[in-house]
Formats: sequence, C-alpha cells, structure tokens
Amino acid sequence: MKNTQPIVRLAIIGTGSMGGMHAKSYTAIENATLVAAVDTNETQLIEFCNKHDIEHRFTSLQALLDWNEFDAVSNVTPDQVHHRTSLQVIAANKHILCEKPLAVNYQDAREMADAAAGAGVINMVNLSYRNVASIQKAAQMVADGCIGQIKHFEASYLQSWLTQPAWGDWKSQSQWLWRLSSEHGSKGVLGDVGIHIIDFVTFVANQMPKSLSCQLHTFNKAEDDKIGEYPLDANDSFVMHMQLDNDALGVVSATRFASGHHNDLRLRIYGDKGGLEVSFENSTSRLRACLEKDLESATWHEVECADVDTIYQKFIDAILLNEQALPNFERGAQLQQLLDTAMGEHK
Ligand SMILES: NC(=O)c1ccc[n+]([C@@H]2O[C@H](COP(=O)([O-])OP(=O)(O)OC[C@H]3O[C@@H](n4cnc5c(N)ncnc54)[C@H](O)[C@@H]3O)[C@@H](O)[C@H]2O)c1
Repeated sequence: MKNTQPIVRLAIIGTGSMGGMHAKSYTAIENATLVAAVDTNETQLIEFCNKHDIEHRFTSLQALLDWNEFDAVSNVTPDQVHHRTSLQVIAANKHILCEKPLAVNYQDAREMADAAAGAGVINMVNLSYRNVASIQKAAQMVADGCIGQIKHFEASYLQSWLTQPAWGDWKSQSQWLWRLSSEHGSKGVLGDVGIHIIDFVTFVANQMPKSLSCQLHTFNKAEDDKIGEYPLDANDSFVMHMQLDNDALGVVSATRFASGHHNDLRLRIYGDKGGLEVSFENSTSRLRACLEKDLESATWHEVECADVDTIYQKFIDAILLNEQALPNFERGAQLQQLLDTAMGEHK
C-alpha cells in the first residue's frame, strides 16, 4: 500500500564522520527521506551518497539551493563553516539542524539565532547528549523538586584520544590535527566538547551560570608545538568554576588526556533534599539517586529511565507539526556566549 504520510525531504551538508551518523539516524525515521548531500570534497561525497543511497549530489551549497527540491538541512560541516552556510540555508527558508558548536564565537551564533527566529524556520542544534535517557530523567527529577534546592555540582567530559589510538593516530590524521589547531578553526577541547558538558549541567539544573571562570591548558605534544601545517595551540584540558543563578557552586572539566576513558560524561548534582549521579560511560546511560529517606544512611539507588526520542526524530516531528523544538539556535547561542567567556579567561 502507498505510504500517504507526509515526508520530510532532507539534505545533508558535510559528508564527514558525523555526517554518517546523521544519515544513519534519518534513514531509521519513517517520515524522513534523504534526497541530497553536499560536500566540497567530491570523492568523499560520491562514496557517502553511494553508501547511504542518496540520489542528488552537489559540490556547493548554492547548487543545492538552486535545485530547491528539499525541505530541510542537516549542517554537518566543520565548526567555522556553520555560520555562513546556515545563514544561506535560513535565507532560503529551509528548516535546519546544525551541528554543535553553533559557531566559533557568540557574535556569529547570535546572528544565526536571530536569523532563524526571524525566518520562522524550525531550527535545532545537535546537542547529542540530550539523547541520553538519564540526562532527561535527571532534568525531570530536578524540575519536580526531588533534590530540593541545588547547592553543589561536579561534571566532567573525559576523552583520551591523545594517549591511545582507539580512534586513530592523532599525530598523522587531519581529522584530529585540525582539532588541535586554532588556525584550523578549533577552540580546543572547550569548543569541541565543553559545550556538551556545560549543556549537561545547565539543562539538568534548569539554570544558567551567573558567573564562571576557566583555566585552559595546552600541553606540549610535538617539537616546536607543530606538526606539518598544524600549530598545536588549541587547549587540551580545562577546569571551570561555575556559579548558577541560585548561587549553587560547581566545577566543570574536560580533557583529551583522561587515560582509561574513551568518551565518558558524568554529572553529580546535590540539593538540600537529595543527590543525583548521571553518567554516560562506555555508551551506557545510568542514573543513581540518594533521596530524602536515604540521606542519613547515604544509600544510592539506580533510577530507571525511559528511552527518549533523538534530536533527529524531534527535528522531523517539529517540521511536521510546525512547532519549534529544543535545543534550538537560541540555546546554541547562549552556550556559545559561555564558551566565549571561558576563552576570555585564558591565561
Ligand atoms: N554532536 C556531536 O556529538 C558531534 C560529534 C562529532 C562531530 N560533531 C560536529 O560535527 C561537525 C562535523 O564534524 P566531522 O567530525 O564530521 O568533521 P569532518 O571533517 O569529518 O567532516 C566535515 C565535512 O564537511 C565538508 N565541508 C567543509 N566545508 C564545506 C562546505 N563549505 N560545504 C560543504 N561541505 C563542506 C568537508 O569536506 C568534510 O567532508 C563539526 O561541527 C563537529 O563539531 C558533533
């Protein structure tokens, strides 16, 4: 029988490693169909389209916009390309899901958020850890008052690709080298994953910081701090002190040197009625709680968390319902402002 459901026709811009994740995710969604892809690297574009069965291939965004037979875009280009490409997509009145960080500075991110709001297109930023069941459940428990007034928290994002080759050899592969070099658009570990862990904290707490300070460090990793065309000047680790709107204090950190952790996020958050431990480690989501009656014995229990819709699914649903969904460009811009503040503290 013919499928009569409305279908969102998608184009992916940027067919690198994360583009593959977008393609796989949309392929699994019934009301979405991948109709086109764009990449300036033609060889990669063709390989990507063949692999994901995408018919229309373009080597420039303008060529896609001229073709015009699509409804929405996933922008999976490198960080410094998001701003100009997203503005072009928004100007063409297409819905957009853009990768994080939204831009490389607050001014650009603000312009993107204002343009998207002005055009009225559905706009989302891919803060992908919102897909983790335990973070959604923790946010709900905090909103329901389960832990009372938040007083203290600690959060970390731990990677170790500078100490072992599980994801490839960082010294010889461009996909890792650009991430170590500000000249190639990187804001280091802060710009790359700092945004995720700051979102982790502020989403669960449902508050933004009223102040923060950040210490960043770039370790010596090669002779003259340079490999080929890549000066290795982007930060490798950061430690941030944060005070939330309600005065709660916390420490947020991230590093690419956390030997023993490939890609692990943790948040411990404490209120006057209880505590929560949220983690996403070895791709496993977990939530533990110590609540009122268990406080005296300091007993922690596992909390069951229901599966949640992915951001990709929320994006498609938002388009079909014509209702904005979160996290949107405005949220991306707010987080970008915090990243800029943290960079300003760089000594
Ligand atoms: N949400 C997450 O958890 C997550 C995870 C990994 C990466 N990312 C983000 O995804 C984005 C892409 O990362 P990646 O690792 O896939 O990078 P990548 O370098 O593997 O891929 C980027 C692709 O964009 C293409 N490109 C560059 N300029 C272009 C342009 N003007 N038009 C069309 N294509 C262009 C490149 O040729 C490349 O193929 C980055 O912003 C990164 O921060 C997000």
